[in-house]
Amino acid sequence: MERRHFIRLSALTAPLMGWTDRLTTPKRKASGPIVISTWDFGKAANVEAWKILATGGRSLDAVEAGVKVPEADPDNHTVGYSGFPDRDGHVTLDACIMDEFGNCGSVMALEHVTHAISVARLVMEKTPHVVLAGEGAFQFAMSQGFKKENLLTPESEAAWKNWLMKEKYEPVMNIENKLWKDKPNDELPGGKHNHDTIGMLALDASNNLSGACTTSGMAFKMRGRVGDSPIIGAGLFVDNEIGAATSTGVGEEVIRCVGSHLVVEGMRQGLSPEDACRMAVERIVKKKPATAKNIQVGFLALNRSGEFGAFALQKGFSYAVRSGNVETVIPGKYYYNS
Ligand code: GLY
Repeated sequence: MERRHFIRLSALTAPLMGWTDRLTTPKRKASGPIVISTWDFGKAANVEAWKILATGGRSLDAVEAGVKVPEADPDNHTVGYSGFPDRDGHVTLDACIMDEFGNCGSVMALEHVTHAISVARLVMEKTPHVVLAGEGAFQFAMSQGFKKENLLTPESEAAWKNWLMKEKYEPVMNIENKLWKDKPNDELPGGKHNHDTIGMLALDASNNLSGACTTSGMAFKMRGRVGDSPIIGAGLFVDNEIGAATSTGVGEEVIRCVGSHLVVEGMRQGLSPEDACRMAVERIVKKKPATAKNIQVGFLALNRSGEFGAFALQKGFSYAVRSGNVETVIPGKYYYNS
């Protein structure tokens, strides 16, 4: 098979106290608790998660607290409050959470509640089910004391109306990528104007892993469209014996390869977190080479030893790390030259 494989190693960050960087197979490792999350906005989310991890708290509590930060951020238009709406003007949220015991909960196409991740956690803890969707998820949230909110901010409404004027009234696959391809480099996914899903993974002082993933999904999607983020195994997977993984980017391609589960199984076979993420990216390329060239997908992984890594299809993916006294954002390695 001809492989047009143009992996460019992004700059390694400066050596960091307590971490291991090996030049041949670059691995990064934390001793003690650690939280990692997708994109540059993960840094602020990690701060909240770290408050729990640093005081011996549970990784499940840390990831929930962490991802609530971008969920509530009015400047972040791809997660929670102020998320870009679907093509009919409805803000619909997808989220899931998973703990060290394999317990998991998820909401799909939830409306009118900012903290979808907390509703997902309650699905896990208070119901016999794993997934609640749409109106049922909303009714459940109301029954648990959440307040009905309007998530569509004036800025998101204006962006939607602008999109309606320029685009046909039909779903545009990969609209996020279309936007960044048409704009300068700082508009890449993860740049200041074009964020995406937050996926967060944490290892606590008891050596237990948890993860959370939350998003408003693809901007201006078809009504009812659900991406990878609330699907256990696709947008998030945690196996406390091995490690945890999460994904960001165009969810359709992640679902096709059950991406996060694939990454964890790669680690089970002995791959480093970064190599497992690269293997999942290569699977996407192999399945749909023409599609893969024009979309962004990124994977992030953390194993039980505190090693972590990431890999994406395209330049522009970043991830945030907090461990000990280290707080940084690292550019992800990627498959295609842009
Ligand atoms: N990864 C987010 C989505 O595709 O909805």
